Amino acid sequence: MTTGHILRRSGAALGIVVVLAATAWVGWAWWSSRLPDSYNVMDYGTHDYGGGVVPAGGAEHHHHGGASASLTTLRGPAEGTPDERFTLTALSAAVELPSGQRIDALTFNGRVPGPELRVRRGDLVEVTLVNDDVESGVTIHWHGVDVPNAEDGVAGVTQDAVLPGGRHTYRFRVEQAGTFWYHTHQSSAKEVRRGLFGALVIEDGPPAKRTLDLTMVSHDFAGVPTLAGSDRLERRVVAPGTRVRLRLVNTDNTPQRFELDGTPFEVVAIDGTDVHAPTPLEHTSLELAAGGRYDVAFTMPATPVRLAIPDTQAGLVLSRDGTGDVAPADPGPEFDPLAYGTPAPVPFDRATRFDRRFRFDIGRKPGFLDGKPGLQWTINGGIFPDVPVFMVERGDLVEVTIDNDTKAVHPMHLHGHHMLVLARDGVAASGSPWWTDTLDVEPGERYEVAFRADNPGIWMDHCHNLKHAAAGMTMHVAYAGVFTPFTTGGRAHNHPE
Ligand code: C2O
Ligand code: CU
Repeated sequence: MTTGHILRRSGAALGIVVVLAATAWVGWAWWSSRLPDSYNVMDYGTHDYGGGVVPAGGAEHHHHGGASASLTTLRGPAEGTPDERFTLTALSAAVELPSGQRIDALTFNGRVPGPELRVRRGDLVEVTLVNDDVESGVTIHWHGVDVPNAEDGVAGVTQDAVLPGGRHTYRFRVEQAGTFWYHTHQSSAKEVRRGLFGALVIEDGPPAKRTLDLTMVSHDFAGVPTLAGSDRLERRVVAPGTRVRLRLVNTDNTPQRFELDGTPFEVVAIDGTDVHAPTPLEHTSLELAAGGRYDVAFTMPATPVRLAIPDTQAGLVLSRDGTGDVAPADPGPEFDPLAYGTPAPVPFDRATRFDRRFRFDIGRKPGFLDGKPGLQWTINGGIFPDVPVFMVERGDLVEVTIDNDTKAVHPMHLHGHHMLVLARDGVAASGSPWWTDTLDVEPGERYEVAFRADNPGIWMDHCHNLKHAAAGMTMHVAYAGVFTPFTTGGRAHNHPE
């Protein structure tokens, strides 16, 4: 044989080895991506301590560790007569929208959105969830309300899904005031879209005189945009001089644009937290993160005011006699909370020495998600469940840097805590303290956010584009020493996403 022959032969052999190795690697990637039928969220991914101390005893053997506690002990008050009591019954129903269009919905109490729950700050609230006929099971999560962990309503993490014929009671005292919403956290990508949600308003004391306070939930039902459950332009008589508050809630998967014309207005609250000394805006469009809330306020002028979702029929015109409209105006620049309102003291800022600092890098790469090939979302380079668990201890000051290296917007939602935005793309927040629970991170953006770990438990931290969450954009913030007896999948059929 000539040298050329040998080289060609070994080249071919090498080629075969490379192909075999690649096949084996892909096979292994596929095999190892498959989720077991049932698993505990704490047994997956890597425990990331954010550069802080790893507690003695570790959380790795939380099932057996001496100082460990089940999150089922982290409940709301068991004793005491509730100030407000509600029953929400999940049932499928054909709902007729005001235009006459019928939708095949999943509802709470037969309506979409579900009933608006109104309570006052300090109230002990008791809600009984009854599942009439929703086969896939239901839970209720109180989006933005920092409830005790066992009341958080996440199937497979804080409770089992409530199957048809079952019920579950939530009890918690509300310490916040503002605009929130509730929704199922079982098969949420499918069930929220079809209607299992409603508004939750926590008032700060008795309503003032001469005010109008309306919740405007925007939701798309299978291609039909609605505002407060209506797919038409609605009208309302409002006397000039009335103080009006509109609570905007976006229950969809993508950002929702609102336009408010005919009056200057203020954004008085973001995600259930008051803005400090808000300043007047006009011709400013509001783009609200999926799952987010903006409360806007103004004093009713003598002329009409219109709230609209651009390019849809859904809207609301307020006027002194129930007629009239507002001439279309230039939508103007987009509202930016980073520099809005007036600064006020904050409990931590960019100069704080944080106990833990985490990286939350959002990316995309080809791979397998539970055995299915495709272009997958990644968190810190890994495909679910190969994602981090951010491990914290009670009292920690925690900083998270979120980087979005994808072409999609990701509304990042942390359960059980509010995050203070410190900076965006290196620019420090300069307006009112911006507290958020659902933060839109646009393509290419980097946010520095921080929170105090003051609510022990195991908390979901996920994208509120619920399709993305179901496609793996889900991880947890967990307190060392807390474990969950619930499992995802399994006989209880828990599928939080
Ligand atoms: Cu609005 Cu994890 O949810
Ligand atoms: Cu996303």
